[in-house]
Amino acid sequence: MEFTINGSTRTFDVDIRTSLLDLLREHAGLPGTKKGCNQGACGACTVLVDGERINSCLALAVQYQGRAITTIEGVGTQDALADIQAAFVEHDGFQCGYCTPGQICSAIGMAAEAKRGLPSHVTQDLAADSVTLDDDELRERMSGNLCRCGAYNGIVAAVRQVFV
Ligand code: FES
Repeated sequence: MEFTINGSTRTFDVDIRTSLLDLLREHAGLPGTKKGCNQGACGACTVLVDGERINSCLALAVQYQGRAITTIEGVGTQDALADIQAAFVEHDGFQCGYCTPGQICSAIGMAAEAKRGLPSHVTQDLAADSVTLDDDELRERMSGNLCRCGAYNGIVAAVRQVFV
C-alpha cells in the first residue's frame, strides 16, 4: 500500500486489517503518534488527514492511501518548533507529555474546523485568518483529547495563543 506521510510517499507491505495508528508506529517508524485506549476514547492517536483530525486507532490504513497524512513529526522539528508546539512549552501545556502529540494535531484540526464555520455560534473573522471561541467552546472542541495529568489550563492557553 502506498501512503503520503508528512509529505513523503512511502510504500508498505502490511495486512489489510492494519490500523493507521499501527502503520505509523510499527511500520513507518513514527512513534510520535501515541496509543492510549486504542478504541477512540482518548485522542492520543490523533493525526491529520487532508487537514482534518482523526483518531488513527479507529482508521484502517488502507482507507487513507492517496490522502495527505500528517503526524506530529510533520508539524515541526526539535530545532524549529511550530508555533503551537512552542506555545505548549511556554504555557506548560503538558506534564508527562504522552497526550501532547494528539493534543497538538487536534488543535490544528480544530482551528481548521472552526474556520470552516462549525458550528454556527463560532464567531469568525476569515479575513484575519482567525477564529474566536470562548473558553467553553474551545474546551468542547478539544474534549476528545484527554490529559490524565490535568494540564488543561495550559493546553487551553497554548491553543488560544496561537489559534483563537
Ligand atoms: Fe486512539 Fe485512544 S488511542 S483514541
